[in-house]
Amino acid sequence: ADCRIAVLVGSLRKESLNRRLSRALTGLAPEGFGFHELRIDDLPLYNQDEDEHPAASVDRFRKDVSRADALLIVTPEYNRSIPGVLKNALDQGSRPMGHNAWAGKPAGVIGIALGSCGTALAQQHLRNILAVLNVPTMAQPEAFIGYYDGLFTDEGGIGERSREFLQSWMDKYIAWVKLFCS
Ligand code: FNR
Repeated sequence: ADCRIAVLVGSLRKESLNRRLSRALTGLAPEGFGFHELRIDDLPLYNQDEDEHPAASVDRFRKDVSRADALLIVTPEYNRSIPGVLKNALDQGSRPMGHNAWAGKPAGVIGIALGSCGTALAQQHLRNILAVLNVPTMAQPEAFIGYYDGLFTDEGGIGERSREFLQSWMDKYIAWVKLFCS
């Protein structure tokens, strides 16, 4: 692929709606974009004492982030913010001091919840974090997805009612990423 996109999913749950959404979105991207989900479930809790001697999983994670050209972050909202596992992954990738692996990589943020206004506050918190990590994040369009029966097709795509909206979000995300990756 010409452009490697690292996908971060803020839920570790096997049946995660956010993971399903991330996979369905990937299917809406044009050729030339390679998506791969970064593993975050084996990262230890960030501890500054380990900066110079990171666990193998942390070392691998930082390298995976560095190799990516762009980021797609698909996350649930937990108690009006982002899940701790996602914050931990963002922290792990940001250190040691002076080696912020996220810097300069364009991102898109999106999320799905059970309620209709779900993930709005999580996404807003995430935007604050991404700003300090020097990640240029697509401002618009925003997308706060509320789950309903039929959102996903049996094949894992997006059902008819939401396809046009999410295709349009994805088209704009790809256009945003293209500004940064040749
Ligand atoms: C939630 N959920 C939730 N939803 C929301 O819209 N706002 C919130 O603040 C919270 N808080 C929250 C806390 C915790 C600890 C859990 C487990 C859940 C519900 C959440 O949207 C729902 O469980 C989603 O299905 C989680 O995403 P995944 O795991 O399906 O991707």
